[in-house]
Amino acid sequence: MNASYLLLTTIIILLVAFLYLSWIFVSNEIENKDKSKTNRRDFLYTASYTLGAVGVAAAAWPLIHQMNPDASVKALSTTEVDISTIELGKSITVLWRGKPVFIRRRTQEEIVEAQNIKLSDLKDPQDDKDRVKKPEWLVMLGVCTHLGCVPLGNKGDYKGWFCPCHGSHYDTSGRIRKGPAPTNLEIPKYEFIDNNTIKIG
Ligand code: FES
Repeated sequence: MNASYLLLTTIIILLVAFLYLSWIFVSNEIENKDKSKTNRRDFLYTASYTLGAVGVAAAAWPLIHQMNPDASVKALSTTEVDISTIELGKSITVLWRGKPVFIRRRTQEEIVEAQNIKLSDLKDPQDDKDRVKKPEWLVMLGVCTHLGCVPLGNKGDYKGWFCPCHGSHYDTSGRIRKGPAPTNLEIPKYEFIDNNTIKIG
């Protein structure tokens, strides 16, 4: 059940409970105080307000409901990628939410290089193991963190990525090593569905 269904259900339950409690309260008053006319009128007011509130909730429902992303939007928010055909040392670029995502199958040499860097040498210190779920696979947004150009793979002084716009160099873990970019290439949310499939988003 999504949040808006839960919200509407909660509102209706609360209103029904309120109506029920009001009815009990007014009934007791009728018995105890012998002001039947006044109390009946109070009850009718309360019931009217409550029913009115239920009506408002029902009228608001289409508005609440249309705030939910429909199925096509939900589908676009995740992308499943078949990685079985990516050879060692090669990358592919896929589009996710309109942005390029680099998926690189790293060689042993690239992995060792990424792992053997001292954090003190990094502008945006981050361990390689914190940037990957499996050392062989690096998944990151292909958007330079300086001004948003798309860096080129297998280029630059650190054999990772190079952004030609203003000269940012990224290493084999996508970490910024030289140039104006302030931070490492961003790692999107992703998971391995199986050994051959990654779900991004
Ligand atoms: S946008 Fe990449 S270095 Fe400026």
